Amino acid sequence: MTHSTGAIWHGRAPGRVNLIGEHVDYLGGVVLPAAVDRFTDVTGQPADKWSVRSDIGGGLDYVRCIGDELGASPQSINVTSDVPPGSGLSSSAALLVSVAAGLASNMDGKAAALACQRAEQKATGVHVGVMDQFASALGRRGHALLLDCATLDYRTVPFPHEIVIAVIDSGEHRSLAHTPYNQRRSEAEAGMPKRKRHVDSEIARVHAFVDALESGRFDRLGGLLNESHVSLRDDFEVSTPTVDGLVEKAWSQPGCLGARIMGAGFGGSIIALLERGKEDTFVSAMGRPVILCATADGAFATAA
Ligand code: GLA
Repeated sequence: MTHSTGAIWHGRAPGRVNLIGEHVDYLGGVVLPAAVDRFTDVTGQPADKWSVRSDIGGGLDYVRCIGDELGASPQSINVTSDVPPGSGLSSSAALLVSVAAGLASNMDGKAAALACQRAEQKATGVHVGVMDQFASALGRRGHALLLDCATLDYRTVPFPHEIVIAVIDSGEHRSLAHTPYNQRRSEAEAGMPKRKRHVDSEIARVHAFVDALESGRFDRLGGLLNESHVSLRDDFEVSTPTVDGLVEKAWSQPGCLGARIMGAGFGGSIIALLERGKEDTFVSAMGRPVILCATADGAFATAA
């Protein structure tokens, strides 16, 4: 399945957002991510040892680990990306999935996502769930993915054109290996009451969010995002004062339906949903870098 000739290969995979369903993927919960229109492109060819040249820096451990998962021989890899590390769009998942797409383009998308998850766990020592890699592999343009992380069953949920996805950088960047991510995971697995309260309430919010999308009750989406933030802040304890301040600022902007911390937390980025047409005033009011995204196809989506 992997390339054995000296030919140059190419792979491309998108970043992702998570609309709702945070810190539940590694517990077998349901999540609602979407692939977005920021991409990592890789080209590679067989070499004596693994090497990476990247316009966003780093990546060697990641490509070596996904190469091992795929049983590939060493490659010399060139990376160009508009998924900046620390932007909250899962640059690591985009890198891993782009390499998998390049080296093993016929692979089943679910199997590719699982291989990328294992590679990320090995490269970082962080026991991440499968959400980010799954979204980058199997997201669909115009849609979010409702993914059951216990079974990997998923279905697409149409995402309305009239709502804009904004990702805002808090400026607090952290490598997950230096955060209590693994600790939160263990506490939740052990059933610690506050952590469990977040997980149970968050899963209910994912279902309510999907119902709201599917019944056109977009007025309900923002409240669910805001409740998710409060739960991640108070019960799962993955927010920071800086991030809380940024979320509260987003909440007060005209045309902002709702906002919350996104991804692993401990700094990083927030997601806000905006009424289309209100983007410009939102961006200038926030005073931080804002990435406005549209949904996109995942690297393995068209084969799925
Ligand atoms: C990171 C991990 C995901 C998920 C989120 C929190 O992005 O890579 O698997 O656990 O944190 O929802």
